[in-house]
Amino acid sequence: MDNLRGQSAIITGAAQGLGYAIAKAYVHEGMRVALMDIRGDLLETVASEFTAAGGDVLPITVDLSDAAQTQTAVEAALGQYGPPRALIHNAALLITRSMREITLDQWQTEINIILQAAFILSKAVWQPMIDAGGGSIVYLSSGSGYKGFIEEVAYNPGKHGIEGLMKCLALEGKPFNIAVNCATPGAPINTPMSDTNYSEEQKQHWVDPALLTPAFVYLAKQDGSGLSGHRVAARASGKWDAVDLL
Ligand SMILES: NC(=O)c1ccc[n+]([C@@H]2O[C@H](COP(=O)([O-])OP(=O)(O)OC[C@H]3O[C@@H](n4cnc5c(N)ncnc54)[C@H](O)[C@@H]3O)[C@@H](O)[C@H]2O)c1
Repeated sequence: MDNLRGQSAIITGAAQGLGYAIAKAYVHEGMRVALMDIRGDLLETVASEFTAAGGDVLPITVDLSDAAQTQTAVEAALGQYGPPRALIHNAALLITRSMREITLDQWQTEINIILQAAFILSKAVWQPMIDAGGGSIVYLSSGSGYKGFIEEVAYNPGKHGIEGLMKCLALEGKPFNIAVNCATPGAPINTPMSDTNYSEEQKQHWVDPALLTPAFVYLAKQDGSGLSGHRVAARASGKWDAVDLL
């Protein structure tokens, strides 16, 4: 697919950070975008900004750690815009805690936002994408998707998990013309998550997440005949590197 104008997308975690930057890029491409986030206050402001710029967006306030809310949210998006050309599951929560500190509830919250929501959202769009002739699904991964980091007892296995789901669905999606990939920020990005977790030294090198968005425009154009089963590192240069994980 060359032109995204008039196509629709679902983006989670769209109220701020990288998700906001991707949403802005998609609105600029002429896409209609369902914006999901737990921060309803920020989401309304963002939706007003995009609408004022001529965009067609639907803000959906949802706690993606909750299965029923996630299902309701994706049904609202499908009801408004039909089968999405692209599903970008970008929302995540990273709270560093040791194994001694973390509770089961805390562990499940982070895992559910990252992995359970990826499953529920993907399952909800799967058949509509097949019926529409294809589509593109992207999960935001991280270095935590393939390396270990201390005190990421939930985030780390959550990110490993979505890489596994991605590989499985990329294989299943190919004959249905659905591309499934993971993406990572290929540069330190200036976002609220980074603000909480980066050292002062790392913050000296962080970049505006808007610089990473060309990779996400490219990914939205993919289908089963294009790039699938890859981890794509979105670079601040506007380019990207893709590693085949299949
Ligand atoms: N910041 C980095 O350097 C970095 C590095 C590697 C990967 N990532 C990944 O990139 C993605 C975006 O990161 P970011 O830095 O923009 O994060 P961020 O924390 O700045 O933004 C994440 C968004 O997700 C939303 N969210 C959190 N919990 C939610 C819930 N329960 N329901 C709905 N929405 C919820 C937040 O409100 C926020 O708007 C994440 O998947 C993250 O893991 C980020």
